[in-house]
Amino acid sequence: MPELRYKRVLLKLSGEALSGENKFGIDPATVSAICSEIGEVLGYGVELAVVIGGGNIFRGMAGATQGMERASADYMGMLATVLNAVAVQDALEKLGHDTRVLSAITMQEICEPYIRRRAARHLQKGRVVICAAGTGNPYFTTDTAAALRGMELKCNALIKATKVDGVYDKDPAKYPDAVKYRRISYSEAISRRLGVMDATAISLAMENNLPIIVCNMLNGDIKRLLRGEEAGTIVQGE
Ligand code: GTP
Repeated sequence: MPELRYKRVLLKLSGEALSGENKFGIDPATVSAICSEIGEVLGYGVELAVVIGGGNIFRGMAGATQGMERASADYMGMLATVLNAVAVQDALEKLGHDTRVLSAITMQEICEPYIRRRAARHLQKGRVVICAAGTGNPYFTTDTAAALRGMELKCNALIKATKVDGVYDKDPAKYPDAVKYRRISYSEAISRRLGVMDATAISLAMENNLPIIVCNMLNGDIKRLLRGEEAGTIVQGE
């Protein structure tokens, strides 16, 4: 087993990533591939909490939420994250991993309520803790939920796993000469609006010195990171 760079990690998965090549929805093959990647790092003994976005489902409902009050639309988004959490739980359990879904909005027939000390116990016992329903409050993104859970569960790092492999100076999909940063500071990530995470999430991480690493979710970056190798872009203090 390799020596772990981070013993306890908060992994933020974007909802969009779960839809694979589709525009929205959950693509089972993609979820299964992501969970295999997660399974490999669990084999290293890392304690893992996961926060998943809801954009893949929410985007499919864009028409329905048009003109809606922001708070109501946000609650729909939070429910979307619960669908994703249950899908990821199912895929991880099929691979033989022990998981618990804990929701910030109580829905006890489906999953456990989020209780910080209980989540921490699950992590100590080697269970993957999937945090659903964001922070439970409208006006907060799932990125902010990830920073919040990362801090309260005393994670050593927040890994934001996405379709790209790091933070670039401009959109790498549009500009072939885009340059990837190895490391940037929290303040640079906020002031240059590099799209790492929203400013609330980065500010929370900055105040608590929680490093954020942006990397690809499917190319082995997460493994490399935990083994202490270079991967993705790290956002940290100056
Ligand atoms: P330990 O007590 O640390 O062993 O944790 P545990 O999660 O195994 O014990 P518990 O008896 O709390 O849970 C047993 C099973 O019931 C697990 O699969 C939990 O996810 C599930 N469970 C526990 N609380 C709730 C709840 O409030 N709602 C739902 N839907 N399931 C729950």
